[in-house]
Amino acid sequence: MSHYFDHDPKVDSDRKTVSVIVAGDAFEFVTDAGVFSHGRLDAGTKILLNDAPPPATEGNLLDIGCGAGPISLSLARRSPRARVWAVDVNERALSLVRDNAKHLGLENITAARPEDVPADIEFDTIWSNPPIKVGKDELHSILDLWLPRLRDQGTAVLVVNKNLGSDSLAAWLERKGWNVRRLGSRRGDRLLEVSSSRRSESGRIDD
Ligand SMILES: C[S@@+](CC[C@H](N)C(=O)[O-])C[C@H]1O[C@@H](n2cnc3c(N)ncnc32)[C@H](O)[C@@H]1O
Repeated sequence: MSHYFDHDPKVDSDRKTVSVIVAGDAFEFVTDAGVFSHGRLDAGTKILLNDAPPPATEGNLLDIGCGAGPISLSLARRSPRARVWAVDVNERALSLVRDNAKHLGLENITAARPEDVPADIEFDTIWSNPPIKVGKDELHSILDLWLPRLRDQGTAVLVVNKNLGSDSLAAWLERKGWNVRRLGSRRGDRLLEVSSSRRSESGRIDD
């Protein structure tokens, strides 16, 4: 059985262009069979792109599990002075992101496998529609790998559907010492803002 998180999808390529307007910005990107959300923008991703607070304007931004790249492309368009790291294990997804970035004239995206991101890079913003279907243990190890690389003043925003365990994920993150704030919920898709407990009072946006 094939999954969107396969490293090398065996299903035949079937590229389809998707047009989106997110956060007031219209652009097109190409999707493919064997990559998450073929032929459309995922509803949860759309909520993240429309409703998350603005990303950092400079520095390094991370999209964990970029798929065809809608999050990375939007980040790169909104923060042209920042470098966006589009990370995925699916090689077809990484090729799509590179092609989509080229087509949109974006030179500030690096599409890479997790192990190819230099270990000394820290992130000012992390946005992700994370791979829930890999299973809880794997999801936790993905978040354990990347969240500690968030700068103290940075924030991560994750979109997770309540039917896919957003509440238990939020509770797990809090047990790990992260500040978690629910930014909103639409049709079960919940936006979780995650920040470091080392974050200073001036950078705090909790109530
Ligand atoms: C829910 S999809 C989101 C795709 C895209 N960001 C979007 O919003 O359309 C999650 C992505 O995570 C990727 N993924 C799975 N395991 C991963 C891992 N260990 N590290 C990084 N990405 C992974 C999958 O291949 C998939 O593309």
